[in-house]
Parts: sequence; structure tokens; C-alpha cells
Amino acid sequence: MAGRVEGKVALITGAARGQGRSHAVRLAQEGADIIALDICGPVREDAQIAPASPEDMAETVELVKGFNRRIVTVETDVRDFDAVKTAVDTGVEQLGRLDIVVANAGIGTGGAPLHETDEFDWQEMQDINLSGVWKSVKAGVPHMIEGGRGGSIILTSSVGGLKAHPNMGPYIAAKHGVVGLMRSFAVELGQHFIRVNTVHPTNVNTPMFMNEGAMKMFRPDLENPGPEDMKVVAQLMHVLPIGWVEPEDISNAVLFLASDESRYVTGLTLSVDAGSALK
Ligand SMILES: NC(=O)c1ccc[n+]([C@@H]2O[C@H](COP(=O)([O-])OP(=O)(O)OC[C@H]3O[C@@H](n4cnc5c(N)ncnc54)[C@H](O)[C@@H]3O)[C@@H](O)[C@H]2O)c1
Repeated sequence: MAGRVEGKVALITGAARGQGRSHAVRLAQEGADIIALDICGPVREDAQIAPASPEDMAETVELVKGFNRRIVTVETDVRDFDAVKTAVDTGVEQLGRLDIVVANAGIGTGGAPLHETDEFDWQEMQDINLSGVWKSVKAGVPHMIEGGRGGSIILTSSVGGLKAHPNMGPYIAAKHGVVGLMRSFAVELGQHFIRVNTVHPTNVNTPMFMNEGAMKMFRPDLENPGPEDMKVVAQLMHVLPIGWVEPEDISNAVLFLASDESRYVTGLTLSVDAGSALK
């Protein structure tokens, strides 16, 4: 039986680990070849979370190859448009076409109220989580138009792209901005049968969420909180009694939007949030 994205080529940013890796694997499992882009290193020197590494990307490669699909990898920063464009051009040259863009790379820093946020932190967040998404799509679109087969662009926003949580202002602003990007691209690209949608995950079990800093943020009352301690509080965010979802839960939404099953779906904000929007 043919896969749900059989013969298509997908560009995925932030593909070394976490959700990006899971998207690469899920799309490969359903027949797509992959252009995997990631910085594979620290975004900043004082990063609170361990950065993705070339070894992480090597693992993504092995997993995709396990489904007998081709994968081209590039170590690139989504802030650098020329490098992203070269990466995408090279990937398309090697794999022959481009049908799907998943602009997923992002950072999750925060902690200060918006009026006390320093300019560097603000700018870095906008440069990666908003401008980086724009640059990734900008690099892919000419290939999709030229291919003449339409396509699907999926932008990773967040529950924080539809509502606000305190002390995450730069992230919230950037993720709301991603919705604006999605709507603008959708109205411009519809004439080419290129569809553009956002996914809005709640907490996902990846290094961005499952780390010491997040556990302490959820449980400031405990000295050494663990995942189980965090879960008790995190599940209060949701209607379904869970603290977080798994990367595959987001990948299944991405797969639906990438496949022709959603051929007339564009401009959608698709939440995978365990009911967080209802609270
Ligand atoms: N984990 C969550 O709880 C959660 C919830 C909602 C939305 N999101 C969003 O999902 C997306 C994926 O995050 P994740 O959970 O997989 O986290 P993650 O930290 O595991 O993965 C993010 C990946 O993006 C890459 N990346 C970061 N900055 C980059 C840059 N400048 N250039 C190229 N690559 C870069 C990292 O190297 C890493 O591999 C992000 O946009 C994030 O904001 C995450």
C-alpha cells in the first residue's frame, strides 16, 4: 500500500531531535524523502538546555534510512537566509523536488515579565521563532511554485500562539506572529495550490519541555522536582488529565496537513493541546 506522502520531499527545520526528528521519521514512514536542517549546536553560550548535536542528527538519519527513504542533512542556522537558501537549493537538487515544508525549529527561553525582558533576549526570540520561520518558508516556496504540483507548508506555533501565559512574552509574541505569517502565506500561495497551516502543541515531551528548568518552574515549592511532580501541575492546564503529549502526537497532525487528505485545508490553526484552549 502506498504511503500517505509517498514520493514527496519534505524540508524539516529543527530536525536533529525532538518534534523535528519525529516529523522526519513519521513522514519517511509514509513515503517521503527528507531535507533535514538544524543548527546542531548551541544557539547561545549560556543556553539553559543542552543543545542539539551532530550525533542527534546522525540518529535522525539512521531512523529515516530505516524506512528506506533518502535524507539530506544540513547544519544551518535558520537566522541565516543565504545559508538556508543554499541548503534548500542543494537538497532539492539532490532529491528532485519539494512538496512539504515543516518550519519547526525554535527555542523556548523565557522567565521574565515582558517589561523587564532585555532587548537581546527579545530580539533573539523574534529572529529564530518568527523570522527564522519566514526565512525557511521563503527559501522553499520558489521550488514549490516551480514544481507546479502545489504543496503543503506547516508552521509550528504553540498553544502560546493563541493565548498568553505570563513571563513568556517574547515567545508568545513570536508564536502569535507565526499565525500572521501563516495567514499571509496562505492567501498569497493559494493560487498555486500551496496550502499553509499552523500546528499548536501544548507541552511536548522533548528537551525543550522535559528539563530541570521547566520542572522547577512548575514546582517552585520542591527542591528537586521530577517529571511526576511536574505532571501534577502541568495537567491542570488541560481538559484531558495528562501533563504533556508525545512528539508523535504532533507528527500525526503534521502528517495529516502534509498529505493530500487535507487537500482543501488551508489557513487552519490546528491545536494538539489536550483541551488547553478551553481553560
Ligand atoms: N516542547 C514543547 O513543549 C513545545 C510546545 C509548543 C511548541 N513547541 C515548539 O515546537 C518546536 C520544536 O521544539 P521541540 O519541542 O522539538 O524542542 P527541541 O529543543 O527538542 O528541538 C528544537 C530543535 O530546533 C533546533 N534549532 C533551534 N534554533 C535553531 C536555529 N536558530 N537554527 C536551526 N535550528 C535550530 C534545535 O537545534 C533543536 O534540534 C519549536 O518551535 C517549539 O517552540 C514546543
